[in-house]
Amino acid sequence: MDREEIICHCMSVSRGVIEDAIKADGLKTVDEVGNATGAGTGCGGCQDTIQEILDEING
Ligand code: FES
Repeated sequence: MDREEIICHCMSVSRGVIEDAIKADGLKTVDEVGNATGAGTGCGGCQDTIQEILDEING
């Protein structure tokens, strides 16, 4: 996976930032990722991808 890939274009949040926040803070939900990183708090169009990242990390 490309950690530099921008997942949330509204807030310019990369995959790596999202992955690190999930791992560091034990995030479980899209809302929690939004609170921690801002990702998903604009148009909402990236929320499915954020969920996929959550599923990849949390299983
Ligand atoms: S692309 Fe993430 S909120 Fe719009």
